[in-house]
Amino acid sequence: MNMTLEQLPGVESVRNLFSLAGKVALVTGGGSGLCRAIAWGLACNGADVAIVDRDGTAAAACAAELSGGTGRRVESFQADVSNEADVAKAVDGVLEAFGRVDVLLNGAGHNIRKPLVEFSQAEFDSLMQVHVRGAFLFCRAVAPGMQARKSGSIINIASIAAFVAIREIVPYSAAKAGLLQLTRAFALEMAPFGVRVNAIAPGFIDTPLTRQHPGEKRRQIEETSPTGRFGCTEELIGPAVFLASDAASFVTGTSVVVDGAWSAQ
Ligand SMILES: NC(=O)c1ccc[n+]([C@@H]2O[C@H](COP(=O)([O-])OP(=O)(O)OC[C@H]3O[C@@H](n4cnc5c(N)ncnc54)[C@H](O)[C@@H]3O)[C@@H](O)[C@H]2O)c1
Repeated sequence: MNMTLEQLPGVESVRNLFSLAGKVALVTGGGSGLCRAIAWGLACNGADVAIVDRDGTAAAACAAELSGGTGRRVESFQADVSNEADVAKAVDGVLEAFGRVDVLLNGAGHNIRKPLVEFSQAEFDSLMQVHVRGAFLFCRAVAPGMQARKSGSIINIASIAAFVAIREIVPYSAAKAGLLQLTRAFALEMAPFGVRVNAIAPGFIDTPLTRQHPGEKRRQIEETSPTGRFGCTEELIGPAVFLASDAASFVTGTSVVVDGAWSAQ
């Protein structure tokens, strides 16, 4: 038996499904690249935003731009996401400024490209620390408040490298696969509290990180991409707003792949 239209949500609530009005979002890595675009998207949809980045100058510039452009409250916090004391200080600062965190987006990160045999232990550790430990530290700091309020959305920026083997980024791939499984396993723990935990797995997106590729490598990526191009940072906004909002109320423990069919090949 179908529900009657009266039993479905009303027109206004459907139109506002993606609204983030009244929510506070904490975005790590928001000083640059795709997380900067996502932070913009969250603010455009009504969220107040805390930008956390190791690069305090970039984070402050981003906060000023976002606040000026959207009229939302946007503050910056300098922190290395892999450092426990930094994370505690940043989250304390965010809670003092905004009172709570409704949306946590873990996106800070870097990559190192070369054959596995050329990696030092310190380089390997740096990738595990930023991608896996960083997300763990922020989840651990922010989740108790979400559990108490029985609502919240956590979004981890993984990568298609978590699913597909790609040459010369072995430690990065292992770290992103770890982040993906952290996402799934933590989603089980948070589901009884009404808190959702998901990942976004981008393909090749044009950012300062991927600009590090030499021209020949960039051309090769474009040639092997079904769309013939890199993704744009703005193309991450929709998936992030979706996962952050009530539109994704039954979406948890999974990932949204945003790769222009690259991994479908
Ligand atoms: N660009 C892509 O093609 C692509 C694809 C898949 C996944 N990703 C992931 O998306 C995220 C953002 O990448 P991007 O391409 O926008 O890169 P980017 O270099 O433009 O931005 C990364 C941001 O993270 C910050 N950061 C790095 N290490 C940090 C640390 N330890 N503590 C705090 N901040 C730190 C940097 O200062 C920078 O502002 C990363 O996690 C990356 O692995 C990117």
